Amino acid sequence: MAINPPIDATQTPAWVALQKHYDELQAEGISLKKWFAEDSDRVKNLSFDAGDLHFDLSKNLIKPETLQLFVHLAREVKLDERIKAMYTGVHINNTEDRAVLHTALRRPVEDEGKYIVDGQDTVKDVREVLDKIYAFADEVRSGKWTGVTGRKIETVVNIGIGGSDLGPVMAYEALKPYADAGISARYISNIDPNDLAEKTKGLDPETTLFIIVSKTFTTLETLTNAREARTWLLEELAANGAIDSNDDAQKAEAIKKHFVAVSTNLEKVAEFGIDPNNAFGFWNWVGGRYSVDSAVGTSLAVVFGPARFEEFLHGFHEIDEYFANTPFEKNVVVLLGMLNVWYRNFFKAASHAVLPYDQYLHRFPAYLQQLTMESNGKSVRWDGTPVTTETGEIFWGEPGTNGQHAFYQLIHQGTQLIPADFIAFVNTPNPTKDGDQDVHELFLGNYFAQTKALAFGKTAEEVRAEGTPEEIVPARVFTGNRPTTSIFGVALTPFALGELIALYEHITFVEGTVWGLDSYDQWGVELGKQLAKQITPAISKDDEALAAQDASTQSLIKFYRENREF
Ligand code: F6P
Repeated sequence: MAINPPIDATQTPAWVALQKHYDELQAEGISLKKWFAEDSDRVKNLSFDAGDLHFDLSKNLIKPETLQLFVHLAREVKLDERIKAMYTGVHINNTEDRAVLHTALRRPVEDEGKYIVDGQDTVKDVREVLDKIYAFADEVRSGKWTGVTGRKIETVVNIGIGGSDLGPVMAYEALKPYADAGISARYISNIDPNDLAEKTKGLDPETTLFIIVSKTFTTLETLTNAREARTWLLEELAANGAIDSNDDAQKAEAIKKHFVAVSTNLEKVAEFGIDPNNAFGFWNWVGGRYSVDSAVGTSLAVVFGPARFEEFLHGFHEIDEYFANTPFEKNVVVLLGMLNVWYRNFFKAASHAVLPYDQYLHRFPAYLQQLTMESNGKSVRWDGTPVTTETGEIFWGEPGTNGQHAFYQLIHQGTQLIPADFIAFVNTPNPTKDGDQDVHELFLGNYFAQTKALAFGKTAEEVRAEGTPEEIVPARVFTGNRPTTSIFGVALTPFALGELIALYEHITFVEGTVWGLDSYDQWGVELGKQLAKQITPAISKDDEALAAQDASTQSLIKFYRENREF
């Protein structure tokens, strides 16, 4: 089904009204201190709950009436129609002519038969693959599935890159306290041989299971690492005397017991030598960066178990339903997407910090970088016409207090506006006391203090009142009015993690809709891949290929040839 051309948001009455509103706020003087003092209902009016997550938007550079304008804009770009199109499988990824149905990955069994897309009962197919993954995970966890020498698997090694790595490794790190079967995971992604070398160090080949994850099963990095891992496994098993390196049947049996795959391309999986019975499929309507809740999350099902994986899916589904069914005025997912547009296009903020106050979420910003920047880092709209305003912020971040001692200086006193999301949880799986002091509360004290400091700052009078010498007063003034959103959960459970991921998936979609983007293609990664294929032969041998390169590339390769020592 053809999709409508994008609506140019900048030409809508709502955009014009937002610009006027922005100009008026600037003229009046933005002051969170004043806005809090004038409006005793500000926090109430700007707080929301979705699933079991609580959101405080009150320390953003908005007034309650700003939200009304956000809602008008959402209506004028027909966000409601676009949500419906996505959820029902219209090919909104039009440059690849594909449906975008990650929401089907987390639908309950009761939805079987309701989402037939391109002739496929999506929910039924999803549940069938999940059943297969769960049976496999149970076998590995219980020790029924063993390595070639009959030993229980103790380590799963996920080999993938981009969406086939970032989601699983982030979720593995986030949910570590739930690992309950004596199985740990490692994640190899980089084609740099150092990654594989370090991640296989200390591994026992007899108790290691590799999961090769690639949607296309053609990705250079993943296939190279998979072959290297196969060589490593066979050599190590032979060195242990576990197999005879001259016996092809034994080698094939070892690969069968130590390699499984996740892909949409099951033919290529078989070509690699992995038994198709040990391959878990997904479909081209699942984008790589939207795939952690598909078979791509097989390592998670093994480490944490099927029940936890189901909870994870329920968390996603909770937010999917909330996003699709909550009126825009109260829909914090829509409002957060619009808030990002507000900062990007009206305040011209080029970056957006995501600051988890939870060490287990330390890979969450890295995961979000692919989700948001591969989705919305684009200059043309879904009909091929140029965008009409700035798109795609740079997402970045680090766990909270570490960031405080590194880059927060720039957020507090630098010259650019950096909207920031602060994420924390009420409960910790590791309650600890330092004397009488609860350490988690000490930690949360920082979470509360930072958004307060960013919002309300410190005036020169306040600095002077502390007895500061006059000449250093300016350096110690904090202007305040630096916007933050506080996202507060009850505990970082599999359910909450699913909620958080779905939240950002849909925020990304809202922004993409306003900007008229196909947020589901990624043509921008192709040119580098093509050129790498052309350049690689020139590096050490092919002088003709070298001569065909530009002057800078030739000069760099010459430096390489002169200095190579291995
Ligand atoms: O290069 C970008 C990309 O296509 C991502 O979108 C994707 O997540 C990654 O490569 C890995 O692709 P695959 O899962 O097919 O190996």
